[in-house]
Amino acid sequence: MGAAMCSSDSHIDPAKNLPAGSSDHYSAFVGPPDQYDFMGATQFRLLCALGLREDHALLDFGCGSLRAGRLLIPYLKRGGYFGIDPNKWLIDDAIKDEIGEWLVRKKNCRFDYNDNFDSSVFGVKFDFVIAQSIFSHAGRAQVLKCLEGFRNNIEDDGIIAATFVVSENNESEYVGDEWVYPACVSYSEDTIAYFASTCSLKYVRIPWYHPRQSWFLFAKSARNLPDAGTAAKHLQGQVLKNQPIA
Ligand SMILES: C[S@@+](CC[C@H](N)C(=O)[O-])C[C@H]1O[C@@H](n2cnc3c(N)ncnc32)[C@H](O)[C@@H]1O
Repeated sequence: MGAAMCSSDSHIDPAKNLPAGSSDHYSAFVGPPDQYDFMGATQFRLLCALGLREDHALLDFGCGSLRAGRLLIPYLKRGGYFGIDPNKWLIDDAIKDEIGEWLVRKKNCRFDYNDNFDSSVFGVKFDFVIAQSIFSHAGRAQVLKCLEGFRNNIEDDGIIAATFVVSENNESEYVGDEWVYPACVSYSEDTIAYFASTCSLKYVRIPWYHPRQSWFLFAKSARNLPDAGTAAKHLQGQVLKNQPIA
């Protein structure tokens, strides 16, 4: 005999009932708290499907409360994980509750807290950049600054994976330059193509599953991007059970 009986209350996580965007808990601030696990796992799975290996350098832009980071950090070798987010409390709370200071030190994770969309701060050329649910809150000038920075700070064969909320037409898209949160902003695919060409990037929209947004890949050359057939075959992102819906 041994283990004490747990009361059923001990299984209820009150943070799971908070609204998305709530600053009461790190798992809610970044999105629906009951999808904290899925939204991290889907980013990790996408990056692995794209070819992320342990010796790569990865920038998790707007890393928030390490939804993806808590999976990427153990996978990558020491010195491979870089996170930027101005809300330092999200990173601090996730380190405390999810991964521990020990792992951050062991993997020599680097964090920066700038809010001016500057990805040059580490002086590193990244193999992969992920920006999940960043452009769904960013104004036009911010998206352009961010993408231009990514272009300047990736390897020649690097890949940028980013999500957008895609609007049906140009009339309903966001025209402002301010960050909007926790509400989302949308851009038409024409405007996303304009963002890419202005930043001298090629892009492709991929079918990788997302409950609310659409995934796009950007690269310096179309050679580094999958064609439509390859994306349809290899980059679906569906899961068999318990896939969250919008
Ligand atoms: C919807 S959350 C997504 C977080 C993370 N990418 C994920 O998927 O879990 C948006 C994130 O953008 C961060 N953010 C806000 N302003 C930012 C800025 N100027 N530069 C980078 N990130 C920013 C927020 O702190 C928040 O963590």
